[in-house]
Amino acid sequence: MQNITILGSTGSIGTSTLQVVSLHPEKFSVFALTAHKNTSKLFEQCLRYKPSYAVMSDEKSAEILAKQLKSQGLKTEVLSKEEDLQAVAAHPQVDTVMACIVGAAGLSSTLAAAQSGKRILLANKEALVMSGELLLQAVHENNALLLPVDSEHNAIFQCLPPNAKLGYRCESVKQIILTASGGAFRDWPLEQLTTATPAQACKHPNWTMGAKITVDSATMMNKGLEVIEASYLFRMPIDAISVILHPQSIIHSLVEYQDGSTLAQLGEPDMRVPISYVLNWPERIASGVKSLDLLAVKCLEFQPLCLTRYPCLDLAYQAFKVGGTAPTILNAANEVAVQLFLDEKICFTDIPKLISYVLERTTHKSAKNLDIIFEADVIAREKSFKWLDKNRKYAAFN
Ligand SMILES: NC(=O)c1ccc[n+]([C@@H]2O[C@H](COP(=O)([O-])OP(=O)(O)OC[C@H]3O[C@@H](n4cnc5c(N)ncnc54)[C@H](OP(=O)(O)O)[C@@H]3O)[C@@H](O)[C@H]2O)c1
Repeated sequence: MQNITILGSTGSIGTSTLQVVSLHPEKFSVFALTAHKNTSKLFEQCLRYKPSYAVMSDEKSAEILAKQLKSQGLKTEVLSKEEDLQAVAAHPQVDTVMACIVGAAGLSSTLAAAQSGKRILLANKEALVMSGELLLQAVHENNALLLPVDSEHNAIFQCLPPNAKLGYRCESVKQIILTASGGAFRDWPLEQLTTATPAQACKHPNWTMGAKITVDSATMMNKGLEVIEASYLFRMPIDAISVILHPQSIIHSLVEYQDGSTLAQLGEPDMRVPISYVLNWPERIASGVKSLDLLAVKCLEFQPLCLTRYPCLDLAYQAFKVGGTAPTILNAANEVAVQLFLDEKICFTDIPKLISYVLERTTHKSAKNLDIIFEADVIAREKSFKWLDKNRKYAAFN
């Protein structure tokens, strides 16, 4: 029986994780659930899974949840501080931590899980982008186990030899090929992109996901973050990681070996598949997802990627090549830009402009420790709002 903490249980990955967990009550029990503000969903989840702890990072929401749970006679203890998130990730009774908070907010608790030697199911790619070396070092030094949830990295992990270890290079691998659906605006004329609305950007052609990652898919920043994530997880130089368009999202990624063989992992675009894989790795369990019907799929298409359409991908490559805190700066600027777009304060095509401005004007340092990383994150967010102030009168929605 694995005792699990789900960091970000009310989100898309968190909800899918609980669906898989529900299929295997003999294998998993829920120790702690966490959210930011979604009191009603966390309340429902607490009623159903009866965790020992529930953490809401928003204090007011935590107070409301505590009252609701008390009125139902539930013993779940409600907490709300940043340290509490880390505590439920590092708790001695916890075996497994699903790290699926969105954005930089997930870094400290993911790191706490690594420092306490947990089995970490990593969906929060931003943590790895910001602090790849520190996180992998914490995993190795504390005998933790890191397993990738992101469908592409999970696919690559499935295609590697069984003895391959994350954070180490597999010498027989020549190249990693990440597939990308192209996001919501793949087929839009470039000149129309300035008119793209948040609702349109949040309609992914194949996947159902949270708002931030869906916009990241439309800009292709998601793939940029994934290239960085892949470079850390599989210790591949960035030039040996390529991206191709695959509109159907059936092949989740590929590994090309030195001998000319290429292995791919295929499946329905449903995150319960990679989630179930990491939950019970190395044994496979039912995920609740139907098997792939190749006759219904009929054909699989591939296209080269056009960087003019997706400038964010190039920005991610550049930031990773610069190294140090540059990926943190990229990530922070992107988080602000995506939120501004979702709030209709800037237009879709402003996203790469804002990120590029912040990357050019923020000094990067060696990412030696968390203080330096968080300082870069704060400075980049401030610079992002400076860009907004300068450009507000030109922004499409104002
Ligand atoms: N969705 C996918 O299919 C998918 C696939 C691969 C990787 N990922 C990665 O998985 C992570 C989660 O994605 P998602 O789509 O599940 O996101 P999501 O649906 O937006 O859920 C995010 C979760 O994080 C919580 N949260 C938000 N802000 C927070 C904060 N400041 N402090 C603490 N908790 C906070 C949310 O709580 P509230 O509900 O209360 O706001 C929610 O539980 C991301 O890093 C994403 O890149 C997602």
